[in-house]
Amino acid sequence: MERTYLMIKPDGVQRGLIGDIISRFEAKGFTLVAGKFTQLSRELAETHYGEHKERPFFGNLVDFITSGPVFAMVWEGENVIKSSRTLVGATNPIEAAPGTIRGDYGVHVGMNLIHGSDSSESASREIDLFFSSEELVTYEKTL
Ligand code: CMP
Repeated sequence: MERTYLMIKPDGVQRGLIGDIISRFEAKGFTLVAGKFTQLSRELAETHYGEHKERPFFGNLVDFITSGPVFAMVWEGENVIKSSRTLVGATNPIEAAPGTIRGDYGVHVGMNLIHGSDSSESASREIDLFFSSEELVTYEKTL
């Protein structure tokens, strides 16, 4: 079963959106595999966003993601990588469709509430970066 890494950013935490965001993934039928409320070190943030290192906004991105706690998660389900990006919406909230997380709550591309892995390679890399194998809980839904 496919897994993805999702992270509610400091603005999502500050605005009290953790519950709403988790509810959307639960309602879609995905399964929570791991969750961690944590504050990223600069080193971890720079590694996570390494592919954007040469971008002009890289410094601001790292400043922002380390500015307060985040809620890091692993979710599992059929096509969860692509499907969760649909639920999250376009990177720039101005372009994100209403009904998506960024479309409903976001206002700025640098403060777009949540990060989601964009490919299976990114998902594997990001899950390994943020969680140990012991923190990934596998279980069957019985109710
Ligand atoms: P995310 O999905 O976490 O992946 C990379 C992030 O870079 C992206 O969300 C945005 O928050 C951020 N980003 C992209 N473009 C810009 C920009 N022009 N200015 C600031 N941040 C940006």
